[in-house]
Amino acid sequence: MVAEILSTHTPELFQKAVRRAAELLRAGEVVALPTETVYGLAANALDEKAVAKIFQIKGRPSHNPIIVHVAGNAMAHDCVKEFTLLAEKFSNAFWPGPLTLVLPRAKKIPDSVTAGGETIGVRWPSHPFMQAVIRECGFPLAAPSANLSNQISPTNVEHVRAQLGSKISLIVDGGQSQVGIESTVLDLTVSPPRILRPGMIHAESLTAVAGEVQSPKSIVQGETARKSPGLLKKHYSPKAKLVVLYWRDEADLRLQVSSLKFQIPDCHVIAHTQIPADESFADVSVMPHDAEAFARALYAELHRCDQAGARLIIVEAPPADLPEWFGIMDRLQRAAA
Ligand code: TXA
Ligand code: MG
Repeated sequence: MVAEILSTHTPELFQKAVRRAAELLRAGEVVALPTETVYGLAANALDEKAVAKIFQIKGRPSHNPIIVHVAGNAMAHDCVKEFTLLAEKFSNAFWPGPLTLVLPRAKKIPDSVTAGGETIGVRWPSHPFMQAVIRECGFPLAAPSANLSNQISPTNVEHVRAQLGSKISLIVDGGQSQVGIESTVLDLTVSPPRILRPGMIHAESLTAVAGEVQSPKSIVQGETARKSPGLLKKHYSPKAKLVVLYWRDEADLRLQVSSLKFQIPDCHVIAHTQIPADESFADVSVMPHDAEAFARALYAELHRCDQAGARLIIVEAPPADLPEWFGIMDRLQRAAA
């Protein structure tokens, strides 16, 4: 199979792609669609067989539940047993947007979506294409990130094509993902609510809306990891070894590279403050200083390093104590695990 790639940059192309995606989804097929966080691999969330295809295509373990995407509050209410007052507060503040709410599930949601569990992760994405397809279908879409299991999430159509182009029939090009890392996952079945996966909607914004939330203790283990296996330590990894380092100056960086037993020409450096001038590094990318722009660019840099056959990716450590960087730090720690 070779995936057809449809553009969406004119109203006509957009409508044509909406109709084609909806047609395949109604027929129980799996298609790759843009969202504002990362690209998703979508199927009809109410069709057990269609959802099973997602697991098969990704090589995803069956114990990992899938987020269900909706267009509007009514559809979200339909997916859960009860849309609580707290859920109402978070949805009013952050939907449509990069926040997934975990709530007790409705009976009509198939077991495969929730991995047999009693809860469901629901999100109303803000990407106009995703919204239009869900509305056209009239049913919610189960969609994990559109990558092979354990690899880096795609933030543009080329990333999806490289990993899944021979396994699905349609990829819709909705441009570069605006957020760039996966949604914040917030468990509302515990009190106070607990962040299962940090993202660009960070703890302080959540707290401002609804009071106390529990933050993840960097990388989760034990019970939380069983509840939400996507949070396991080793996840979202590039093929190359990745380290997060802080260096005072270039001499310091060289010293650290040699103590890691790598050669300078093997190293791809992703820096934002201390930019090495030495041209013998395999590659040096200069990242933006602000967290939002950094998140938007990060996965494309990691995909690029992998494609270039990097042996070691060195990422300059982001600021450690600013909440807007916690989601980024989380992904870097996992990629380094
Ligand atoms: O931004 C996103 O969330 C993207 C786009 C496509 O929406 N989706 C995404 O899905 O990142 P995925 O499957 O790659 O990651 C979903 C994460 C996993 O860590 C999974 O374990 C967790 O959410 N999750 C899903 N449903 C859950 C549930 N009912 N309870 C706890 N964790 C859940
Ligand atoms: Mg994923």
